[in-house]
Amino acid sequence: MSEPAVPSRRSFFELVTMALGGIASAALAVPFIGYLLGAIRKNPRRWLSLGPVGQFPLGETRLHPFTNPIRQPWDGMTAETGVYVRNLGGGDFLVFAMNCTHLGCPVTWFPQSGLFMCPCHGGVYYENGERASGPPPRGLFRCVWEVRDGQLWIQAPFYPTLQNSPENPAPP
Ligand code: FES
Repeated sequence: MSEPAVPSRRSFFELVTMALGGIASAALAVPFIGYLLGAIRKNPRRWLSLGPVGQFPLGETRLHPFTNPIRQPWDGMTAETGVYVRNLGGGDFLVFAMNCTHLGCPVTWFPQSGLFMCPCHGGVYYENGERASGPPPRGLFRCVWEVRDGQLWIQAPFYPTLQNSPENPAPP
């Protein structure tokens, strides 16, 4: 009569090694998957109505302030933001994030000179948003917009950066 096979010490340690390897792999995979999911959640896009298109006079640039719907409770005043809207006519608009492309200070529109100026380091932009002078590396960030039911809608701006701008969002 044959006795049941008893696993050898070697096969026992092989099983233990594989089990520990599986646990270690799972422990490493959890933060990696969390990172990937976090990157997807980090780029929320919400549409925000700026109101009827008729409130933006033809050929004028207007600041439209609003509270950013993409905000955290601790954002405080920084959630108060806005966009500059220029009605080009024929249903066409320029919509700029108000943040300077240098370090993000809010720029101010001066209709007398037709320039946007940044108070922080002297960045200057033309009325079409292109960089005129100073340290900004590029023109103002343009928001994604569309007209729906007579209202001007924009994709609610997250804080724009050179790597993740409204017109060129970073991949999730
Ligand atoms: S933040 Fe505007 S020029 Fe530096």
